[in-house]
Amino acid sequence: MASEHTPMAQQPSTEATRAPSVGELTPPNRTLMGPGPSDVNPRVLRAMSTPLVGHLDPAFIEIMDEVQELLRYTFRTDNQWTIPVSGTGSAAMEAAIGNVVEPGDTMLVPTNGYFGGRMASMAQRAGGKVVEVDAPWGEPLEPDDVADALAEHDPDVFGFVHAETSTGVLQPTVPELTAAAHDHDALVIADSVTSLGGVELRVDEWDIDVAYSGPQKCLSCPPGASPLTLSDEAMEKVLSREEDPRSWYLDLSLLEGYWGEERAYHHTAPITNVYALREALRLVAEEGIEARWERHLEMAGALKAGVEAMGLGLNPEDEYWLPSLNAVRVPDGVDDGAVIETLLENYDLEIASGLGDLEGEIFRIGCMGHSARPKNVTYLVNALGSVLEDEGADIDAAAGAEATAKKL
Ligand SMILES: Cc1ncc(COP(=O)(O)O)c(C=O)c1O
Repeated sequence: MASEHTPMAQQPSTEATRAPSVGELTPPNRTLMGPGPSDVNPRVLRAMSTPLVGHLDPAFIEIMDEVQELLRYTFRTDNQWTIPVSGTGSAAMEAAIGNVVEPGDTMLVPTNGYFGGRMASMAQRAGGKVVEVDAPWGEPLEPDDVADALAEHDPDVFGFVHAETSTGVLQPTVPELTAAAHDHDALVIADSVTSLGGVELRVDEWDIDVAYSGPQKCLSCPPGASPLTLSDEAMEKVLSREEDPRSWYLDLSLLEGYWGEERAYHHTAPITNVYALREALRLVAEEGIEARWERHLEMAGALKAGVEAMGLGLNPEDEYWLPSLNAVRVPDGVDDGAVIETLLENYDLEIASGLGDLEGEIFRIGCMGHSARPKNVTYLVNALGSVLEDEGADIDAAAGAEATAKKL
């Protein structure tokens, strides 16, 4: 019988001891038109295959400076405190909320989508008291409702989602919301995961105190290093906390040692993800941030024209349509899951279903970053029309394709 003293070679071969035979990595070549990740520009993928340097190498320190400068440009901010957080968008989100919300603080969060709910969970775990400003899924926040909730609850922090990926709603009137919050001395945290680099976002001009994002949406970069920016006022609150944040890894007062002037070790940065982000942000700077917002509007406009001409409706009103995430209503009698599966299997094309209150009601079609181009939009409108017709939907696929072609 094998015991812990039996030499390895004499141990009976089991699933655990046998070396697995796993083939070379050959992922399918998808066209990514879902809620993220989006298609990655080949330049970003090439940057990811360049040689590794150490996270304290002078060459990497220079790269860190460049990434911070490019992030400030993309966020439209002069905030000194602008960094990529190691991890996905949720890490930047938790870094924002977990540092700014102190135990006993009140945070006002929205109810109009999935990610407002995630804000609430994170604020609660940070020891905060959560209060809500109500709006239905698929609608933006009304400034009057926000003002009323601020007056009623007098929160320390107000969080809102600029681009709600679960509903395809772009929050308009941002400067009005931030002004109302500041009248009550509340700091404002904006979720810009699906807006940064694709939809107009002006952190300084709109007086947003803290904004976080993800790289895999309109920046078209693989997930792994996620943008975060904090104003001096917000950072002052973070640095004068009475109690340490509950996460050591995301404690901004410790991360300050690495991303601030000292450049001392805190944790090993995801070097390759930082390379990728640098290249993705270089692409933003080359294109020009405003031209990039304009491209997203044009490409998503062609997509929207196509699905509407086909006979499908978008869930949000035009005034708060989010170009980077199109919430298209599932036509009557159609199984959304079957359509999504066929697009993936037969067209290598990814779109997604609705979440939460909108499950089964909408398709979520992204138009982000490198995916926001004529080739992808044309392919999407043609494939979707064809699959919906095969599913027996009462639509006009040819009219959709024609309307998109006219706009491109
Ligand atoms: C609006 C919004 N916030 C937060 C997140 C969380 O980001 P991640 O999934 O990268 O952790 C997402 C992801 O889709 C998002 O769309």
